[in-house]
Amino acid sequence: MSLFEKVEHSPADPIFGLAARYKKDKNPNKVDLGVGVYRGSDLKNHTMRCVSEAEKVLMKLEENKGYLPIGGHDSFIKVAQDLAFGEAFCKEARGRLFGAQSIGGTGALRLGGELLKREVTERVYVSDPTWPNHIGVFEGCGMKVERYPYYNKETHMIDHERMLNFFAQIPERSVVVLHTCCHNPTGCDLNPSQWRDLSTLFLKRKLIPFFDFAYQGFGRGIEEDAWALRHFAEKGHELFLAASYSKSFGLYGERVGSLSILSKNEQVSQNVGSVIRRLARVNYSNPPRHGSGIVTIILQDSGLREMWIGEVNAMRRRAMEMRSELFDALTAQFGRERFSFLKMRLGLFSMLGLEREQVERMREEYGIYCTDSSRVNLTGLSEENLPYVIEAIVKTSR
Ligand SMILES: Cc1ncc(COP(=O)(O)O)c(C=O)c1O
Repeated sequence: MSLFEKVEHSPADPIFGLAARYKKDKNPNKVDLGVGVYRGSDLKNHTMRCVSEAEKVLMKLEENKGYLPIGGHDSFIKVAQDLAFGEAFCKEARGRLFGAQSIGGTGALRLGGELLKREVTERVYVSDPTWPNHIGVFEGCGMKVERYPYYNKETHMIDHERMLNFFAQIPERSVVVLHTCCHNPTGCDLNPSQWRDLSTLFLKRKLIPFFDFAYQGFGRGIEEDAWALRHFAEKGHELFLAASYSKSFGLYGERVGSLSILSKNEQVSQNVGSVIRRLARVNYSNPPRHGSGIVTIILQDSGLREMWIGEVNAMRRRAMEMRSELFDALTAQFGRERFSFLKMRLGLFSMLGLEREQVERMREEYGIYCTDSSRVNLTGLSEENLPYVIEAIVKTSR
């Protein structure tokens, strides 16, 4: 009898579990539309050119493999915050904008959640639907996670009124997780006027926005995608930001992220920062150096930065093109109405609005894998596999 006999099996992760199932599938025509990794037209994920170039520079610069400070590399934090908030705002808010490097965007959510649970509140609200790991991460921090109305599955639109009414009722100082751009899984973002309404209400109700920024550059553009975050920052909110460099720099496995906390004054900011460093120290001691070194070099060097912008723009265009082709092909099969909402989506993903049963049949009968919510990674599509995917959607619709 094992000492660990009582340990029960945990369910597989909804996204990584799907990737494992896809890998095992023997269907020669199988299509992976699940995990949120960018793929080029050859359906492969390649290291970005700017990253390879920056790695060469890093090899020359890096004299040793010593530890980074607990909160990460200062120059990385500076370029990371300039990218998200804009340089002018960072200058103006110096002293009250704390930053720490994190283990990917997930690590930033976790650090922020732990601080909030300890010091501020245990209540956190995530959008319905959301990236499933939001729930796991904040529950892991010991927080009570609830959902706020976001997307209406019948109308395929944002449920703005219901969302505002909901936020008008929840307790003050609750945390609300907001997808800065390219909402995952729906691909459906608030418009500027809806963001403004939210900001006004959050100030009035003393709610704490926790921005999750994992897709900068995949929506409208690198600067444009930061609009909501910058609007809230300028309006005087105290807020949290978890930024990920996994998608926009293609650094998935390097685990690069940053946590920023904007507070009212310098004293608060220093106190908050000291708690974050303590939390990081007892969790993983200090962050990895390779990936953050790459991001710093790219953003500090004007040539590499230009190259990066060009590559991000190309990734965004490919996702848009595949969305458009998917839309045209579905429209040809189902008419103008049924999938018309697809046209108005942004980013790597779209939720197709298929029933769970149909999603499962597509996996079983066709080896086509999208998440349970029928979210597809558009860059998993190509000219070659699109007709097969459409055929599967048509046939399993009956
Ligand atoms: C909405 C959202 N937030 C955060 C993350 C986490 O990113 P990272 O891989 O950098 O931890 C992801 C990754 O898929 C995501 O989709």
